[in-house]
Amino acid sequence: MDYTRFLPAAVQAALRFDPPGAWIPELPPGCIRLSAGYPAAELVPAQQMVQATANLVNSEYDLPFHYAGSPAAMALPNLILQRLMERQIQAAADNLLITAGSCQALDLVAHALIDGTTTVAVEGPTYMEALEIFHNYTDRVVSYPVDGEGLQVDAFEEDLIRRRAGNQPIPGLLYTIPSFQNPTGTTVSLDRRRRLLDLAQEYDFLILEDDAYGELSFAKPPIPLKAMDDSGRVIHLGSLSKVVAPGLRIGWIVASPKLVEAFSWFKKDLGHPVTEGAVAKYLESEPLSARVLTLREAYRKRRDHMLQALRRYMPDRVSWRTPDGGFFIWLEVENADTKALLPRSLATGVAYVPGTYFYHEPGQGANALRLSFSHVDFQSMEKGVELLAGLL
Ligand SMILES: Cc1ncc(COP(=O)(O)O)c(C=O)c1O
Repeated sequence: MDYTRFLPAAVQAALRFDPPGAWIPELPPGCIRLSAGYPAAELVPAQQMVQATANLVNSEYDLPFHYAGSPAAMALPNLILQRLMERQIQAAADNLLITAGSCQALDLVAHALIDGTTTVAVEGPTYMEALEIFHNYTDRVVSYPVDGEGLQVDAFEEDLIRRRAGNQPIPGLLYTIPSFQNPTGTTVSLDRRRRLLDLAQEYDFLILEDDAYGELSFAKPPIPLKAMDDSGRVIHLGSLSKVVAPGLRIGWIVASPKLVEAFSWFKKDLGHPVTEGAVAKYLESEPLSARVLTLREAYRKRRDHMLQALRRYMPDRVSWRTPDGGFFIWLEVENADTKALLPRSLATGVAYVPGTYFYHEPGQGANALRLSFSHVDFQSMEKGVELLAGLL
């Protein structure tokens, strides 16, 4: 029986997009996964988490297994606030909401701030999961191009001027990944960051800063937009997914107290005391400030290895930029259709993510693809690039 008729019209409309996760197809056995934005296996602190969980249970017995009341879980917000402070983000307990990763944070922000009349501005390309989440709440998504300095703030401003002159809706929210963007790896320059904050004030919108990769810099770490925000217009999203492990599902929102209250209202999962307690125990033994130094060095070596392989194997019609942090390199291929090419690439033994998945507008990014240097071992990375180069 088909019970989809019970799905309200708005839900059916949301489902018109590619099925969730379409960009991660089943991979044939042995296929080299240059598609995945996963941390490197050797950088996941699995044994330390065993230890931290044992510490939690040995010191608190049944407490973490109830709805609330684990002292360690309650200590997690302070550990996160401390790290935010080290990154020049001044925040107190009422500015912070712990979430199940930044995906839940994105969904809560979208739920609270977006209805069918809200226009949301995004980067083109941008993180595909965020696009899916926004599409669940509004059709009014507009995208602005990205260049070597991240979001092209001039193009954004020109459109704002045009919209104001033409009495068209001004975006209520700008979603940006200003540091080591997924998928392009680019970083919004300091001048552009300042300009964005001015524009938010001038045109009265909020900025949703997704800082999933902000800690993973290979040179001077960029200053988060939230650290430059003196008007409270920036909603900052952070996550342990890339700096500890994604399976923990720990992220957070930093915003003004009234907004945090609104986001909290829609968060009905009651938290995850066992995980939050274990993670707090872990962070007490290995502070993020120390851990990120190791990660930066490790991922910089991985980036360099992939760049070397790209230079060695890729034909002239393929171009890319060097990212200063994060997990990704974005390739542009003259006269290619990377989505159509993917089945052949998988059959050849290498997976990537086609560029079109990162765009709101159909058809854009057809000649681009995202590679990740974060996950596979060095030998497979080189082999994967060689196979892909052969195909291109
Ligand atoms: C830009 C960006 N934001 C958010 C996320 C999701 O993070 P989380 O695992 O914390 O939900 C990712 C993961 O790939 C990402 O690339």
